[in-house]
Amino acid sequence: MLTLLNLLKDGRFHSGQALGVALGISRSAVWKQLQHLEAELGLTIHKVRGRGYQLADPLTLLDAEKIAVSTPGWPISIFDSIDSTNAEALRAVDRGQTAPFLVLAERQVSGRGRRGRKWASPFAENLYYSLVLRIDGGMRRLEGLSLVVGLAVMQALRKAGVPDAGLKWPNDVLVGDKKIAGILLELVGDPADVCHVVLGIGINVNMQATDEVDQRWTSVRLESGRICDRNVLAAELNSQLRAYLQRHESEGFSGLQAEWEANHLWQGRPVSLIAGVNQIEGVVQGIDNQGALRLKVNGVEKVFSGGELSLRLRDDS
Ligand code: ATP
Ligand code: BTN
Repeated sequence: MLTLLNLLKDGRFHSGQALGVALGISRSAVWKQLQHLEAELGLTIHKVRGRGYQLADPLTLLDAEKIAVSTPGWPISIFDSIDSTNAEALRAVDRGQTAPFLVLAERQVSGRGRRGRKWASPFAENLYYSLVLRIDGGMRRLEGLSLVVGLAVMQALRKAGVPDAGLKWPNDVLVGDKKIAGILLELVGDPADVCHVVLGIGINVNMQATDEVDQRWTSVRLESGRICDRNVLAAELNSQLRAYLQRHESEGFSGLQAEWEANHLWQGRPVSLIAGVNQIEGVVQGIDNQGALRLKVNGVEKVFSGGELSLRLRDDS
């Protein structure tokens, strides 16, 4: 099916006969595959008598060579369709694949967010990216790691023409109050000995509409007004991650604490911190040198950390 898409991706008209000859199949088999492309991948294909078939929007598919330019030491696997790049990355660790390595996909059918939520992942519109690292007995290398990933994603977005991208603790990337990227870290092994961590990143790149997201969201294209080349963005994300991970390794999270706080969109804002059924009201002071949230609660500074916490702006803020 993707061979057919490769023929169509230039956005020009192709006759059914030419497509059939190129693929070695009949014109009616071409027709079936086209219908399948529309139904399965949500693509729109114009069909014009006498001219043939044309993709409504030209496509640039992910290309490992272009993505690897700045990080040749990170081998890349690209899937047309996968349940979740994080899930595939964890399976690859299980199979013994040597880290670091990258898993990317054109779409995810079970893209996952934090706490079992679903991450909307339409075909060829966004980035679904998982980088696997091996960590040898270094709990310190895990401290604040998801916040460090947030900084790298934010910088890559700024380079892609989204100057207002900023951070929301612990690891959302927002433009104003709209989510543009999400980060999900998953860990296997023994953090005190040898473990692997999957840095899962979803960035809304060219998505313009979806009925799958139940909160305010945006994309690079919606913010910049331009189609964004996902290969260029992924290559930039690689180099930002490499640079920030190196700094994190050499300086520890405390070396990045001030930079993170300077880019925290909710610094000084009144918030509710939700922990399961409990809700704590406070004012954001910042983060500590391990990435935990510092909140002033009833005049006293308290520190909160853990993957199950959610921050909401207070209605009165
Ligand atoms: P918090 O982490 O503070 O609870 P959150 O509401 O963003 O913030 P997450 O678990 O981090 O929750 O993210 C999952 C949520 O993100 C989903 O419930 C959905 O509303 C939203 N979401 C899913 N897909 C996308 C997407 N492609 N772009 C933006 N948001 C999305
Ligand atoms: C969140 O904000 O809840 C985190 C969303 C993380 C989504 C990315 S997309 C690539 C990787 N694979 C997944 O299944 N999830 C992460």
